[in-house]
Amino acid sequence: MFQDLNALPEDSILGLMGKFRADLSRDKVDLGVGVFRDEAGNTPVLECVRRAEAQILRDQTTKSYVAPAGRAEFNALVQSLVLGDQHPVIAGNRSRTVQSPGGCGALRLGAELIKAAAAQSVVQVSDPTWGNHLPLLGGAGLKLQRYPYYDAATHQLKFDAMMEALERCNPGDVVLLHACCHNPSGADLSPPQWGAVLSLLQRRRLVPFLDLAYQGFGEGRDADAYGVRLLSGELPEALVAVSFSKNFGLYRERVGALIAIGGDPAKADAMQSHMLQIARSIYSMPPDHGAAVVAGILSDAAQRQLWEAELGQMRGRIQSMRRLLAATLRQKSGSGRFDFIQTQHGMFSLLGIPAPLVLRLREQHHVYMVPDGRMNIAGVTPQNVGYLAESILAVLNP
Ligand code: LMR
Repeated sequence: MFQDLNALPEDSILGLMGKFRADLSRDKVDLGVGVFRDEAGNTPVLECVRRAEAQILRDQTTKSYVAPAGRAEFNALVQSLVLGDQHPVIAGNRSRTVQSPGGCGALRLGAELIKAAAAQSVVQVSDPTWGNHLPLLGGAGLKLQRYPYYDAATHQLKFDAMMEALERCNPGDVVLLHACCHNPSGADLSPPQWGAVLSLLQRRRLVPFLDLAYQGFGEGRDADAYGVRLLSGELPEALVAVSFSKNFGLYRERVGALIAIGGDPAKADAMQSHMLQIARSIYSMPPDHGAAVVAGILSDAAQRQLWEAELGQMRGRIQSMRRLLAATLRQKSGSGRFDFIQTQHGMFSLLGIPAPLVLRLREQHHVYMVPDGRMNIAGVTPQNVGYLAESILAVLNP
């Protein structure tokens, strides 16, 4: 049966992890996979997480199943964190949240829900987008189309072209939007642009599917949820895929959630019943540990305060590395060509160089980034920034 199966190429992001580990150079710089790193290059366990885990170990009395929807208290806390306590969707009882195995699980759950509701609808995906969006959504059998979003060569958002493309969509089509910290470009919509997107979605009767994987990594916990809160408050239907990999540093624990918003409580109930049935048919139930950690932190005032402080430190470090890399490149190149890095948001920016030069950076300078030139800015440190800037300029001006 399997003798004709050919090996597939490695995942373009995850494949870099093994290559980086195998590189013995003392100079190597990891700007590949999207994980936060501190100044020493480590991805630490947050102190609030350590405390929550210690409490779970003390208090947990059973490992029995929870439920296909995961923890009820986690789901309620996630809704408030994402939408805000006073949000009209919560007041109107129009949202249902299901815990998922990471943000990827939430995206796939959402894709399967769309397929169950309207298998013919097209999902519009930004160009560029995170590499795993296409298999996660397309793998559910949905048709995907790309809308223009960002020009890596000029470092500009293609907002007008995006709006023109979305204007041509059919009613009922779904628009996948990065809620904040666009992956891979770091170029986010401004509040007025979110407002224009809202008007278009209303006029064309399109449904937003918001991917919120970096809440708190851009401008702050609430500012990063601006688009989610605006769209879900004004439109009858929306989906929000949430990840806690980055903002709680819980990557390997696979903690996420899908928030489904329906036109009224009965529609929301129907959406939830499908989400539970889909979850049951794919993975049955989400893993519990990470969700117990998040729920423990969000439900305790002191722990929540500690988390906000640690989240602020992570965000502050990324912002300061953006400034440092842009300044170092400016100083070493004598040009403002890379100043865009300091104005973008979240973990990623696209360097805007062709794939062969990205490969040369890796092979000749041991600098690892995704083939499209995506850099994880959290991999920059005051120690490696000089070498990194010199390596980038060396491949550009051989
Ligand atoms: C990334 O974009 O690098 C992360 O979200 C990790 C992944 O799963 O791709």
